[in-house]
Amino acid sequence: MTTLLDIRGLTKSYGPITAVDNVSFSVDQGEVLGFIGPNGSGKSTTMKIVTGFLAPTMGAVEVGGQDVTRYPLEIKRRIGYLPEGAPLYGDMTPLSLLKFVCKVRRLSDEQTKYGIDYAVEKLHIANVLYQPIETLSKGYKRRVGLAQAIVHEPELLILDEPTDGLDPNQKHEVRELLKEMSGKKAVIISTHILEEVEAVCSRAIVIAKGRVVADDDPLSLQSRSRLHNAVGIRIPAGQAQACIDVLNDVEGVQQVRRSAETTATVELLAVAGHGNEILGNVRNAMEEKGVTVEEIFVERGRLEDVFRDLTYAVEGLQQDPDFNPETPNA
Ligand SMILES: Nc1ncnc2c1ncn2[C@@H]1O[C@H](COP(=O)(O)OP(=O)(O)O)[C@@H](O)[C@H]1O
Ligand SMILES: [Mg+2]
Repeated sequence: MTTLLDIRGLTKSYGPITAVDNVSFSVDQGEVLGFIGPNGSGKSTTMKIVTGFLAPTMGAVEVGGQDVTRYPLEIKRRIGYLPEGAPLYGDMTPLSLLKFVCKVRRLSDEQTKYGIDYAVEKLHIANVLYQPIETLSKGYKRRVGLAQAIVHEPELLILDEPTDGLDPNQKHEVRELLKEMSGKKAVIISTHILEEVEAVCSRAIVIAKGRVVADDDPLSLQSRSRLHNAVGIRIPAGQAQACIDVLNDVEGVQQVRRSAETTATVELLAVAGHGNEILGNVRNAMEEKGVTVEEIFVERGRLEDVFRDLTYAVEGLQQDPDFNPETPNA
């Protein structure tokens, strides 16, 4: 695998504030890395340094083996960047903007033609090329922002909160486009939206207070959740208490929660100690006691819990020892 980005010991201070604190990681070709962290955790600062818009206080960043501070022009050729907020020139049309970007990037006529065709096709913007950008919907504006980031066919894409400010349908659209755009590139997507990571990323780095607190694939991260392998069951309301007593005695069950209820049914969640598999045990116990189980399912875990676990302590926030929205210890 070709390493396209290598960050070592990166630190950035703004006066007394350490925005990025000794961050190291590398990204290979073909990887789509979710760079996730709470607001103010240092995502944008890291991205601005990688793209050459800010100088590091300490540490080194190499893109394709070249140091970003020593070869600012070369690395800008290799990188496509969607800055935070996706700023655009509203009075330009998408076509005039793309031509302008090609000119600034000093692409040849041939590269310009090819690059614009490529970006227009990837982002599906052929139908709005001649419309002033300020008259476009937010979703289309974002597509134009993404198009300008790939017009020179970069190897490394740095996208700072690419779906921020969009409605759920537009977010979905942009995520689908991101999957199409990534191809053989290395892509870094910053976000604080965890579904985005599950939807498009092959790997996730969690950052809090400028420090990397996890670096893993989304599924493994999810399996760190306290609810990994928990078993949910829906039963008639009348059998709830008996069932809770049974579940509490099942081997491997650490805790039983009442997760939802209607007048007719109750949903219980049996949380597994250490994420062990307990489905078989739970099923057997229900059968043995003759409980009418209307539905049974296994939780994969919740990235949200993991994110909170990982970032709360670092951020110095008080963590509720049992923060789940469901009522604990039914
Ligand atoms: N130009 C700046 N001057 C001073 N502090 C800044 C500046 N830019 C960012 N910061 C601070 O650095 C920290 C990280 O910010 P940022 O990288 O924008 O975080 P994120 O993108 O994860 O929300 C925050 O505490 C922020 O207030
Ligand atoms: Mg930011």
